Amino acid sequence: MADKLIIFDTTLRDGEQSPGASMTKDEKLRIARQLERLKVDVIEAGFAASSNGDFEAIRAIAQTIRESTVCSLARANDRDIARALEAVAPAPRRRVHTFIATSALHMEKKLRMTPEQVLDQAVRAVRFARNSIDDVEFSPEDGYRSDPDFLCRVLEAVIDAGATTLNIPDTVGYAVPELYGNFIRMLRERVPNSDKAVWSVHCHNDLGMAVANSLAGVKVGGARQIECTINGLGERAGNTSLEEVVMSVKTRRDYFGLDVDIDTSQIVPASKLVSGITGFVVQPNKAVVGANAFAHASGIHQDGVLKARDTYEIMRAEDVGWSANKIVLGKLSGRNAFKQRVQELGIPVESDTELNAAFTRFKELADRKSEIYDEDIQALFSEDGQAE
Ligand code: KIV
Ligand code: ZN
Repeated sequence: MADKLIIFDTTLRDGEQSPGASMTKDEKLRIARQLERLKVDVIEAGFAASSNGDFEAIRAIAQTIRESTVCSLARANDRDIARALEAVAPAPRRRVHTFIATSALHMEKKLRMTPEQVLDQAVRAVRFARNSIDDVEFSPEDGYRSDPDFLCRVLEAVIDAGATTLNIPDTVGYAVPELYGNFIRMLRERVPNSDKAVWSVHCHNDLGMAVANSLAGVKVGGARQIECTINGLGERAGNTSLEEVVMSVKTRRDYFGLDVDIDTSQIVPASKLVSGITGFVVQPNKAVVGANAFAHASGIHQDGVLKARDTYEIMRAEDVGWSANKIVLGKLSGRNAFKQRVQELGIPVESDTELNAAFTRFKELADRKSEIYDEDIQALFSEDGQAE
């Protein structure tokens, strides 16, 4: 049996950190319900200690969600962790995710703490959380830019303290795939008790490599959890996009050899819901969920797809929740695509000569107009044969 890849969605926490993407409690609840329909394994519902509003939203989600694990973020201190524990308490499956920065830059300039103090605080936080809950995730913030020797010491110590998931963030999106994959593998090899925890990847998209880095962390590094968001929503240039990693692992199962539990037919509804609520428009050429992701405009492609869809499609639009693929009629379209649309529209055509004449008029029109609508095609067959 193939290994399972855990999908940890952080749209409601890291996604919401995107400037302008803040959501109300009701909006978060609607998204959480959709994430459960999508069958994500873990929903990071927020950061309980950050505000009363966030606490209430996490609690409402914990009271509603039955299948996915509900998680709250917490800094590595007792107060934050107690608040996170209280927020997730009503959920049948719950997790606390605690973090502290481990890079020299963050420890010295931001936390103003020595490495020994950070190590001690990380261990105490994990131990405190484990006294109340079985599922504890630990993240060394800015982990990818941390000194490997120090990071190994921290990770070994937090596993001993009871951490069940170790998440290695590329907080500022600085990694490249090969190096990030090797980094995860090196940590797993060097930390003596590494097999006692699930290893996780969490990448930001500042250089546009969050998805590639996450997948390298899985393939090369051996991580078995990916942290991601719907539409790649997140701070600055965003986080790893859920739809892209899920469809990569599914479409290239031959390469990754991993299973995910996601109901992919819920991907597009989830994307539309998050986009509608946040007002963040999805770019048309975005993989999987962009309006053009399954649209064919060139004549050669349209002809190929009409003969056999897999000539130019590696996934099915229907499998990710689109109603169908889209043949966009325009100046690049060929006679075959034109004929198919005429038939779909139920336009009676007496002869090939009639079709050819209409096709000539269609090409003339397409030179003047970027997209041809069904009404235009109908007009091409009307008395005067003119459309505009
Ligand atoms: O990017 C990051 O480092 C984070 C941590 C809090 C996990 O979001
Ligand atoms: Zn992050």
